[in-house]
Amino acid sequence: MKITALSASSPPQDLKNILQEKCRSDQFVVLEQVGAKLNIDTPEVSSADLLILNYPDIDHLDWSAIEIFNLRHPHSTTVLLIGQGDMERILVQAMRVGVRDVLDSAEISERLPEVIERARSRLAAALGNRAAGKILTFIPCKGGGGTSFIASNLAYVLGEVHHKRVLLIDLDLQFGDASFYITDSDDGRSLGDVIRKPNLDGQMLEAACVQVGKSTWLLRAPSNPEQSVGITPEQIDNILTLGSRQFDFICIDLERTLDPLSLRAMDRSDLIFPIMQTVLPYVRGTQRLQRTFRALHYPESKIRIIVNRQGNSKDLSVEKIEEALHTKFYMHLPNDFHNASTSINAGKPLYEIAPDGVLTLALIRWADQLVGAMPKQEQPAASSFWRKIASIVK
Ligand SMILES: Nc1ncnc2c1ncn2[C@@H]1O[C@H](COP(=O)(O)OP(=O)(O)OP(=O)(O)O)[C@@H](O)[C@H]1O
Ligand SMILES: [Mg+2]
Repeated sequence: MKITALSASSPPQDLKNILQEKCRSDQFVVLEQVGAKLNIDTPEVSSADLLILNYPDIDHLDWSAIEIFNLRHPHSTTVLLIGQGDMERILVQAMRVGVRDVLDSAEISERLPEVIERARSRLAAALGNRAAGKILTFIPCKGGGGTSFIASNLAYVLGEVHHKRVLLIDLDLQFGDASFYITDSDDGRSLGDVIRKPNLDGQMLEAACVQVGKSTWLLRAPSNPEQSVGITPEQIDNILTLGSRQFDFICIDLERTLDPLSLRAMDRSDLIFPIMQTVLPYVRGTQRLQRTFRALHYPESKIRIIVNRQGNSKDLSVEKIEEALHTKFYMHLPNDFHNASTSINAGKPLYEIAPDGVLTLALIRWADQLVGAMPKQEQPAASSFWRKIASIVK
């Protein structure tokens, strides 16, 4: 969901804290817009699914701009943050111009999270009762561990076995090869075609993807290095926001080096899967990543370490590694050299090559869990704002 907070003065700390804590998987921006007139024609405002207005001086509020915004964007939610004690004076006027909630500045911490969730449910209902797609990111603990192969084949299984709409994004902008693991098509469409489009919409995004199955799409990394230069985290944000409206799952294949783009993709992710093998260099790589995740304050529940190519008797024991990493592996994937090489050489997904292979079955089990873990769509609860309105009108 895209959230824009406009503030007549320096934005309240409570507001910033809540957006940072509760909206990690949203795209949000907090801007100061001083002056009596509200400018609703900026890209940040006109694309907002949730518009939060911190304008304590209610006598000079630009009601007509708020009304125009709400008429133009019927699926968006507008919330007003006002000074203490002004509530009764403002409620009816706010309702007339389509404001969904009015919060007293003293109750931001307590009530804003619930308002955000309601806006999310409204948007999902408007988009066809479908919850926003889950963003899953796959990151190598060390090079060559199988991250791209696993990410692309899991995406394919989610699409073709579990019939979810899936978008695989190859964000390895230097050496992207996730594309070649599930298709032999050399269609030139890529992220480079859409990433800089100012008015990018869902249809344009889908048109830039290669369809690799009935329900699986691939957004390739740009084949031309010049197209990769200068991509900004905000542009990645935009792709993820649009993508999560159109797809049930977005699987992102990352390169090993962390940069502002991969950090933004991880910030926006519901789950991050570091992929490792049971040999020492991978253990060190995983510990380094764990330190980074801690520094970024990612909750532990967001990180699910996957151990790949298990089964070599010379490898370190899983228990020892789990002890060193202070965590349990989320998933164990077996080594399946024969089917993996056949799949890669044919440019065909593993599922098409070996639907009953050991690695395929492990990916199907993993996808079962992901599909089962998708939360059910909740009905929006009645807003206390509307309850208050009802009590005034009575
Ligand atoms: N479970 C597995 N069994 C057998 N081979 C595997 C398995 N997983 C991955 N591979 C093989 O490992 C090789 C490297 O995989 P991949 O390119 O996905 O690694 P990566 O972690 O993305 O590397 P990079 O750091 O270069 O992006 C591929 O040839 C792939 O077939
Ligand atoms: Mg890779």
